[in-house]
Amino acid sequence: MTQVIEARALGKTFRTGRRVVHAVQGVDLSVVAGEALGIVGESGCGKTTLARMLLRLEEPTAGQVIFNGADITHRRGRALLPFRARAQLVFQNPFDALNPRFTIRRTLAEPLRNFGIPEAEHTARIDAAMARVRLTPASAWLDRYPHELSGGQLQRVVLARALIPGPILIVADEPVSMLDVSVRAGILNLLRAARDDLGLAAIYISHDLALIRYVCERTVVMYLGRIVEEGPTATLIATPRHPYTAALVAAVPVPRVDQDRETLPIKGALSDTPTGGTGCAFRDRCLHAFARCETETPKLRDAGEARRVACHLDA
Ligand SMILES: Nc1ncnc2c1ncn2[C@@H]1O[C@H](COP(=O)(O)OP(=O)(O)OP(=O)(O)O)[C@@H](O)[C@H]1O
Ligand SMILES: [Mg+2]
Repeated sequence: MTQVIEARALGKTFRTGRRVVHAVQGVDLSVVAGEALGIVGESGCGKTTLARMLLRLEEPTAGQVIFNGADITHRRGRALLPFRARAQLVFQNPFDALNPRFTIRRTLAEPLRNFGIPEAEHTARIDAAMARVRLTPASAWLDRYPHELSGGQLQRVVLARALIPGPILIVADEPVSMLDVSVRAGILNLLRAARDDLGLAAIYISHDLALIRYVCERTVVMYLGRIVEEGPTATLIATPRHPYTAALVAAVPVPRVDQDRETLPIKGALSDTPTGGTGCAFRDRCLHAFARCETETPKLRDAGEARRVACHLDA
């Protein structure tokens, strides 16, 4: 299988004044064509920073980003343009994502112009993109402005705009979190259909394991900047190996009478500054921590059945 995107020991450290934040550390992952990878973890664990590095909206401070076989880690400016057309972000908030003064037609023509697609192809491409997100007939929508559309319709336009340059990778950062629950499944189904039809690689970022379970066959779990567990989504949820994954699974709001959501297998609160220190970053919240967790950062290692786990308990 062709790897569309690969991260190798990827890291990002932010320095603002005296504050140093290791937002992402030592992340290895890859996604092949046609596959959807989920990235889950609670607020501040580095999901968006990771996504922005994979899309080269942010330059990594460590490691490499390999896209379609080429190292793009430190490419800049015009050298990134061919990559930009092939790797697209679906924004979280459709109400912010579109220029309110542009008609839908202009919104969709803009990327075509930016990526040098010949004028003669624009109409056909725009119609195809509108059909793909089920806004048909296109003529009924193209002359409208964003304020004339609902949130769900806007998110379809956002999706059409992402698909129109012909990407091979889509990164969706909390793609439906701003939308009404009733329209979420529709958007997720459109994303999935586009992925299947076009053979796209997809990365979905969410703090919501229920959403990830719905769309991603493989999932990585992040905690304070690091991947702590990875595996096929179904098995990862059925038999979590890392105590943090177990806590996330326990927090998924599924209707289960045997589950008291107040008693999660986790303690304490999230420290808001990931430190670069040694030891397991999760140890203070872990019910099973022991001496080794204080002194040694657990490595992410193969745990069989296509799984990886970073936990001393699992060694
Ligand atoms: N530009 C920046 N400058 C300084 N610190 C940053 C910057 N961007 C992110 N951070 C810090 O990096 C860490 C990771 O942030 P990030 O936005 O990647 O988390 P996240 O997992 O996407 O969170 P959320 O679920 O809330 O979106 C946080 O501690 C955040 O404060
Ligand atoms: Mg985020």
